[in-house]
Amino acid sequence: MHAIIAGTDIYHIPDVILDPRTIETRYGSVQLYVGRGEREHLVFLPRHGPTHTAPPHRVNYRANMKALAILGVKSALAAYAVGSINPDIPPRGLVALDDLLDFTSGRVSTFFDGGASGVAHTIMSPPYCPTLRNKMLALAPAFGLEIRPRGTYVCTNGPRFETPGEIRAYAKLGADVVGMTGAQEAALARELGIHFAAVGLSINWAAGIESTIQIVQEGMDRVRAALLSLFIATLETTDSFECPCEHSVLVTHPPQTD
Ligand code: HPA
Repeated sequence: MHAIIAGTDIYHIPDVILDPRTIETRYGSVQLYVGRGEREHLVFLPRHGPTHTAPPHRVNYRANMKALAILGVKSALAAYAVGSINPDIPPRGLVALDDLLDFTSGRVSTFFDGGASGVAHTIMSPPYCPTLRNKMLALAPAFGLEIRPRGTYVCTNGPRFETPGEIRAYAKLGADVVGMTGAQEAALARELGIHFAAVGLSINWAAGIESTIQIVQEGMDRVRAALLSLFIATLETTDSFECPCEHSVLVTHPPQTD
């Protein structure tokens, strides 16, 4: 099985019949979709819920990712709406993320929470699956998509946008794009041994670059549809492979059962 995880403005996949499913996990229940017919191996997870009820800091990331694992997902591609910090990635631009800065706070970012769930340290270098990422980049031109091959995503806590000063600081730290949901998914996928890669789709210039934040709508539906088709093609042609993502969890103290 493989999965597409998406957020803002992506709540279905064009031309794919999806059946709603509720998956119960020890962290909570998750509403997602499973493809029908020739797409029976595809899981679609709207990370904020089917009607976007959870803001970024309240998304139940652990339940979402655990639900994918319960369904047998081995590879996942995620789309993030982002703000552009790097002038080379303007709004409507796409970037295949290759690094991550986590500036969130108060979110649970691990399945290894001590005690009954054990202690582990997970290798996040690189944070995104290189096999999946390279395959996606190779297929992108066939879908009419130009994707910048590298970019660092900074994850802020939200739900407010950043201040101009924060964006200047993130730029100095090497961030190319900014979003509010990407940090936990990458870490939790790695803990589960799920191959995980992600694309940022810019919908605005980050704070302070223009006089105000303006969200771009025009032409975005076409980009989103092409991106989802690329995701499906990538996942279907890389369903079975081995890479270090599966061996990145260093368990130091196994779960305690008593
Ligand atoms: N900041 C944080 N998250 C975002 C932005 C932004 O400018 N645009 C889309 N998601």
